Order: sequence, then structure tokens, then C-alpha cells
Amino acid sequence: MMKAADIRKKYIDFFVGKGHQEIKSASLIPDNDPTCLFTTAGMHPLVPYLQGVTLHPAGRRLTDYQKCIRTGDIDEVGDEVHLTFFEMLGNWSLGDYFKEDAIRFSFEFLTGKDNLNIPVNMLAVTVFAGDDDAPFDEFSYRLWNSLGISEKRIARLGKKDNWWGPAGQTGPCGPDTEMFYWTGDGPAPETFDPADKRWVEIWNDVFMEYNKNADGKYEPLAQKNVDTGMGLERVTAILQGKKSCYETEIFAPLFAELDAIRGIEAPAVRSSSERIIADHLRAATFILADGITPGKVDQAYVLRRLIRRAIREGRKLGIDGAFTSRIARAVIRQLGDVYPELRHSEQRIVEELEREEKQFEQTLEKGTREFEKFISRVPAHIEKKVISGKNAFYLYETYGFPIELTVEMAKEKNFSVDLPGFDAAFAKHQELSRQGAEQKFKGGLADHSEQTARLHTATHLLQAALRKVLGNHVEQRGSNITAERLRFDFSHEEKMTPEQLAEVQKLVNDAIARDLEVVCTETTVDEAKAAGAMGLFENKYGARVKMYTIGDVSCEICGGPHAGRTSELGHFRIVKEESSSRGVRRIKAVLE
Ligand code: ALA
Repeated sequence: MMKAADIRKKYIDFFVGKGHQEIKSASLIPDNDPTCLFTTAGMHPLVPYLQGVTLHPAGRRLTDYQKCIRTGDIDEVGDEVHLTFFEMLGNWSLGDYFKEDAIRFSFEFLTGKDNLNIPVNMLAVTVFAGDDDAPFDEFSYRLWNSLGISEKRIARLGKKDNWWGPAGQTGPCGPDTEMFYWTGDGPAPETFDPADKRWVEIWNDVFMEYNKNADGKYEPLAQKNVDTGMGLERVTAILQGKKSCYETEIFAPLFAELDAIRGIEAPAVRSSSERIIADHLRAATFILADGITPGKVDQAYVLRRLIRRAIREGRKLGIDGAFTSRIARAVIRQLGDVYPELRHSEQRIVEELEREEKQFEQTLEKGTREFEKFISRVPAHIEKKVISGKNAFYLYETYGFPIELTVEMAKEKNFSVDLPGFDAAFAKHQELSRQGAEQKFKGGLADHSEQTARLHTATHLLQAALRKVLGNHVEQRGSNITAERLRFDFSHEEKMTPEQLAEVQKLVNDAIARDLEVVCTETTVDEAKAAGAMGLFENKYGARVKMYTIGDVSCEICGGPHAGRTSELGHFRIVKEESSSRGVRRIKAVLE
């Protein structure tokens, strides 16, 4: 039986064998992309390279397994298929091969004896049917057919199904061809019906030859790319004949730990609470490893929601003590070799979870007192005692009370809960947060104009200045650049003093005044480390990376792009210094 670890390895080995360079999974927190909270696909960190703005240091053929978070489905987690965190296997051609090789590679990997070894008669595909923006993808249709997929198993679908991207509002996108596997009982039907849920999508090859611009127009990209994505958990379940990825060895150690915490034997079927706990704490462990701490906004808020939802589900299962860090440790034991950052941050992950759990405990206590108040306000002689929908939602929203908990507590006091009223308050809130989320995606993908390049260079100077003034414990925790400003998160405990801020600003402006050249060198990770370069060592051992050096001031591994000389930056001004999360400060600055 093929396990997830085997599939991951086979995939990477296969594409390395086809001339691809393996790159390391990028952080879950997108770098310099103000429009998305999390990395949602393997292509996400590669956008500038897909646009042809800059060459990838590892070349034109890349492959990796990328950790991803998709929170759109958060309320559906717990059913059989949805996951918040998942791994995406991918291969890319950045202006190198196109449809022919991409499809041949996919077919060979799916059906090859030493690869996934899937019988051709279990497969079906879809191709783009064509519309006003782009023609019918006849090439892919014919190629699949020539490889042995019968015409009845090739569906032609429109943009809704066979077009992928852009990831935000603007950016690279194009028609795609998707591969499906028959999961039903008995042999696969001769004719493929894409609406039949027993056909499950396992892989997507996107032919990225368009760029969607801010006017909603599709313009040809400078280079033709291939972007593919295969969800590891899903493909593992399917190849093992399991109905759900929660039934595979991927989740087994997490469920085993949960059973141990509850002191029970493994049940025959996993409940929705168990699945939510496993999924959410797996996601939370990875987000914590990428430097986020629970908080009130953006990624920090999603992290908090994941942890608290897991704790609440734990209560439903009767767990009353702290347990989240034990599940996190099980995640780290299982995936620490594949994602070394988990091991590296193990202590921090455990501490943060324990802290959050304690804090949530107190919140629940306060909520219970609030609940008692609602109860006491209703005179004893009233016969039909009701907790209003508004109050039930208040307990949910402010104190994290699941509605089931409120109902249960109400029952003990002979109260009922206005459930339709609760649903209405909930729906209103969801609509508001949906609008908020859409706002986030408005700006389109990060742009790579000269202004953002200058701000990017300023970020390097800022980091160097901060280390000089505050000390070498300062490390980048996040960076986010729009056309107007830079935002830089870094590790540092205390609020900066006005003197320190003035000194940092002065150091950056001094470097700008010296008109230093920004030099880009291609080198290996080891050489860059030896040269004292800062930055995330994203590529595998031996791989080539770009190193940007600014005089004697800064040396960082980074994908660029940057300004040519520091004098192009103008005047640097810090507009704000604030707390980002515990142990992390945030600076916003502009060039003027
Ligand atoms: N980027 C494509 C996807 O996410 C491959 O499906």
C-alpha cells in the first residue's frame, strides 16, 4: 500500500528525473503579498517567476511539495473531504516546456508501473472548451486521446471548471486540464460524467499563458508556463481505496494521541469533532512554526480561531484539561523530517498552544458568568424562559461558546434558546466577515513595479539598521509591501524608544545617501551562508540562490527584484512602530 510519504518521494524523484530542480516549500505566510493571508497553492510563491519579472535562481524546471492553507472551507471541516492544511505536490515550467511535455509527464507519473501505477481505465480528464478569451484546447484533447484516454472519457468544460487563477484579483492564469480517478464500486463507466461525485479530481495541469489585468482583460504573458498541483492527502486516500483522507495513516497518529488523551480505545468511526481537532491543530502547528502567534488580526486571528475551535470540540468530547500541545507534538513527530521548521520551533509551538489554551479557559469562565447574568435577569415567574438569539450569539462571538454548549447550559436552568434568532445573527456576521475578506483580495496579487522594488530594497536596509541598533536577535518575521509603503515584522520584545527609531531611520537614510550599488549574485546556499547572508534558506542543499548585497550594509538571500542603487530610494521615513504579536514588532515606513 502506497503511503503519503512514498507518494511525496516518488513525485519529487520523478520530476527531478525529468530535469526539474527540487525547491523547498515556502512559508505559509506569503512574502510581500498584501492580498492573501496564506499560501494557497504551490504556484503562489512563484508568481514573479511566472510573470517573467525575474528568473528563478533554481532554473526553469521546478518541483516541490508546498504546505498550503485554505480557510474558505473552515466551516466545512469535519466532513469527509475538507482540510484546512494540506500539502500540494507540484511541478513547474517557467517558460520552458508547455502542454505536450506537461501532459506526457502527468500521464507517465499516473500510470507508470514504478510511479502511481493507476490503470488507464480508471482515469478521465477534462479540457478547456473555449470561450471569447481563449480557444478550445484541442491540443490537450488530442494528446490525451493519443495516450489512451478514450474520447468518451474527455469532457470539455468552460471557464468555471477548466480555468485556473489568478490566485488574487490579477495575475497569471490560464486554461487547465484536470485528471479524475474513479472511486466508485465496480468498473468505471465508459462515459465520463464530471457531475458524478465518484469521479474525483486528483491533479490539475494549468497552462499559464495569460495575465489577468486590473481591467479584467486577459493579456498574453511574456512566457508560457506550466503550473500543476496534486493534493497529497486526497491522492493518498484514493490510492488506498479510502473514502476519506482522515482514514489514512496521515491522521492515524493524531487520532491515536487523541484517544490516549481521552483514555479510550480507538472507535470504529471518527466523529466530526475528532476530525476537526486533528485538522485544526495540524494547521495551527504549521502556522505557529512559520512565526505567527495567536492574535486579533489577519493570520494571527485565523490561528486563534483554529486553536479555539479545536478546544471547543475537545470539550464536546469530554476533554477538560489542556491537550492541544500533545496533538501538536504528534504532528511534529510525524512530519518533522519533511518540514524541519517544525522541529526547530517545537518548544515555541508547545508554549504558545499552552498559553492560548489557558487564556481561552479564562474566557470561557467569564462567558459562564455572563451567561448566569442573562439567566438572572429573567424573573422566576415567567413560564417560557428564553435566551435570545442575540445573547446566544454574543456568547458565541465574544466568549467562543459553541451554540450546543449554550443550549445545554440553558436546559439545566429550564431555559430554551432562540435558535432561529441565533442563526440570523450568525448569518449577518458571516456576511460582514465575507465582505471583509473580499476587501483583502481587492488589490490583486502583489505588484512588482519599480516602487515596490525600491521599498523592497529599503526593507533590507531597515533590517540591517534594526540589527545594528537593537541587536542581532532581530530577524524578519514577515514582510508586506504595497505600492505605497513597506511593512516589516521582526523579532523584538519591547516597544522601541523614539531615540532608537530616529537612529534606525538615520542609518537607512545614510545608506541611501552613500549611493550604494545593489549587487545580485547567484551562488549556492552554502556559499551564501559562509558570506554571512541573512534570509530564509529556502532552497535545498546545493541549490543555487540569489544573494543581494548592498555595500557593507546588508547581505540577504532573496528573490528580488530590487532597486539598482540606494540613491533611487529617496528619503526613508518610519510612520509607525507597534506590536504585531507577542515578541514581534511591526514597522511601517514610506519612501518620499
Ligand atoms: N495552481 C493549480 C491548483 O491549485 C495547480 O490547482
